[in-house]
Amino acid sequence: MCRPTYFAVTYRINPWMDPSAPYDTSLAISQWETLVQAYDQLGHKVEFIDPLPGLPDMVFAANGGTVIDGKMYTAQFRHAERADEAPAYRDWAERAGFEVQEAKHVNEGEGDLLLAGEFLLAGTGFRTAHAAHLEAQELFGRPAIALQLVDPRFYHLDTALTVLSQNNIAYLPEAFSPGSQQILRKLFPDAVIANEEDGVVLGLNAVSDGHNVVLPVQAKHLQQALKDSGYNPIPVDVSELRLAGGGPKCCTLELRS
Ligand code: ARG
Repeated sequence: MCRPTYFAVTYRINPWMDPSAPYDTSLAISQWETLVQAYDQLGHKVEFIDPLPGLPDMVFAANGGTVIDGKMYTAQFRHAERADEAPAYRDWAERAGFEVQEAKHVNEGEGDLLLAGEFLLAGTGFRTAHAAHLEAQELFGRPAIALQLVDPRFYHLDTALTVLSQNNIAYLPEAFSPGSQQILRKLFPDAVIANEEDGVVLGLNAVSDGHNVVLPVQAKHLQQALKDSGYNPIPVDVSELRLAGGGPKCCTLELRS
């Protein structure tokens, strides 16, 4: 995770961002701290990367790469504004002892590459290039299932889909193309279905350990739907980070050794 010391909304690379609207960096920091505390209480070990000035989106660690089986597939950002984050996350991973593979294609880490059991769920349409799915599939030896995102508000896979466990997900169907919806229905017949109200508070930008699901407090319908399916929702308020188009999952890069 990366403390939002330099958090700001100074450019617009997704529809959530409005550089003319006010934002509060100290509120973003205190909200982010409550997310760190939630992970602490769940017994997760959290590692930190130093924030860098001039990189206001660096708090969104999920985009810093994809780490599975001790290997990091590096990020390569779509927009120049975030390009310098990639080497920072790569260097961190190298120092931490992960085997690093430099990406040849545009991809925004776990924003678009989510591990669900033995599948790599791989988003495309706004940020990550389809070619990156193949690179990741080859590196991790797991089939990449390409999923086409169609709504610019849900520009990363992790804004439209949460991996709940090895074999279950929650998702917002209308954020995906008809073919991708069909694939998700086939692969995950017991999925938790989110609605538009969950989507617009970035409710699907959540982190699950298989039972406890850390998600935005504003996503009331999704919290109930998760409870009904036997999960334990852990609501957190990171609304200030939503001004940049992010939520709990965006702030969290999972390190799978
Ligand atoms: N402002 C950032 C961007 O548009 C937000 C990234 C959110 N991260 C995520 N994993 N969805 O790139």
